[in-house]
Amino acid sequence: MRTVIKLLLSQGVTGQTYTLSGWVRSVRISKGIAFIVINDGSNLGGIQVVTEQDSPAFREISRISTGCSLRICGSLVTSPSAGQERELRAETITVVGSSDEDYPLQKKRHSFEYLRDIAHLRPRSNTFGAVFRMRSRLAQAIHLFFSDNNFLYVHTPIITASDCEGAGELFRVSTLDAASPPLFNDQPDFSQDFFGRKTGLTVSGQLEGELFALAFSDIYTFGPTFRAENSNTPRHAAEFWMIEPEMAFADLTDDADLAEKFIRYLCRFALEECSEDMAFFDKQIEHGLLERIRKVAEADFVRMEYGEAIERLQKSAASFSYPVEWGLDLQTEHERYITEQIVGGPAFILNYPRDIKAFYMRGNSDGRTVAAMDLLVPKVGEIIGGSQREERLDLLIARMAELGIAREPLWWYLDSRRWGSCPHAGFGLGFERLVMYLTGMENIRDVIPFPRTPRHAEF
Ligand code: 4AD
Ligand code: MG
Repeated sequence: MRTVIKLLLSQGVTGQTYTLSGWVRSVRISKGIAFIVINDGSNLGGIQVVTEQDSPAFREISRISTGCSLRICGSLVTSPSAGQERELRAETITVVGSSDEDYPLQKKRHSFEYLRDIAHLRPRSNTFGAVFRMRSRLAQAIHLFFSDNNFLYVHTPIITASDCEGAGELFRVSTLDAASPPLFNDQPDFSQDFFGRKTGLTVSGQLEGELFALAFSDIYTFGPTFRAENSNTPRHAAEFWMIEPEMAFADLTDDADLAEKFIRYLCRFALEECSEDMAFFDKQIEHGLLERIRKVAEADFVRMEYGEAIERLQKSAASFSYPVEWGLDLQTEHERYITEQIVGGPAFILNYPRDIKAFYMRGNSDGRTVAAMDLLVPKVGEIIGGSQREERLDLLIARMAELGIAREPLWWYLDSRRWGSCPHAGFGLGFERLVMYLTGMENIRDVIPFPRTPRHAEF
């Protein structure tokens, strides 16, 4: 039976014999004693394995190098040397899979750019081990949070015929012959396509999520999302994961309250449940990370009207590349200035101009804004986008007409406003942006196992 290294170190009994398996991080021999650090991914530091020249375990030592996989049987002992409390005194060592000096992850500090080129091996490095353990724990924490709050988990479709955000960023899904598709009026004839219509990969599960909220009251989705936006930034990926809660009988204030409670829960969870990895990020990636996350877990989030945000940006002494004017969208530079310089922590921006937001957002009585909210955080900028939805059928139809959005393909969405409509609200949290925020990692390519960005889909 293989014992998980993390459990061995936390629950193992000194003097008892255990078998463990993993990959060699380093091996050195000093004065007839071999020191092997082996890691199975369950913790950051792995465990030190020690064997002496006269032990049968030493026989394999010439075959052991960084990167090879081993099975080791030995007894757990108190470590006489500094650096670890306990170590494993090996009785037998079996080389399961050998390695050699070409192994690309030798024991030195590699750049993140280099590690991106070896995305098939980088999970075996310290930083990416920590990132992907955190990512996994946070995903589990998200399900815990919603389960504790009685939200229904719904799987919305990945292949869809509707472009929720209306930004035209759908990746096409088609089985038509790309070189010579059947034509109708000189255009590809999608009625002959697999689904008998034009389809793509979803940009958001919201519209389908709303239908479930109008049956189960409180729901959430957590799934992959795809956007064919050609933006090469450290914050955008073409494939990312999004968490989208939706609440019936809720308004924008309820929406912001949920988002705040949710983010603070995740901050506390990271501090309490991922303390070893968080300490690593604090030391190696962003000094002061722990302090920053602790503050967020405790303080109330600032809530600021879009109009006020514009005024404060205009009054600031900063010079921006993009114009700041009522009616224009906030760019990343503005968002970061608000959250980093003006507020110094997370900030909700509420009630944006209707002309820069999606068709489904609820119109405010001033006639020019919608009940939208973005949550901005230092370093990352926008981490959450959400809104109260337009639940009034006549106003929704009028807004769609104004924007030239056809009613027919969204007949089912409109039906939800015909029968038993109610005020409802929700938001989308970008999962990778959350992981960036909680780890201090600065590039979205370094918090998703195999990033999809323009011209990159190799692994
Ligand atoms: O603001 P967005 O576009 O909102 C929606 O999609 C709504 N339908 C959500 C809802 O109300 N249910 O996206 C939500 C979040 C953003 O705040 C950002 O964190 C993340 O998704 N996001 C991206 N993350 C990585 N790469 C991209 N290209 C992203 N686009 C959005
Ligand atoms: Mg947004």
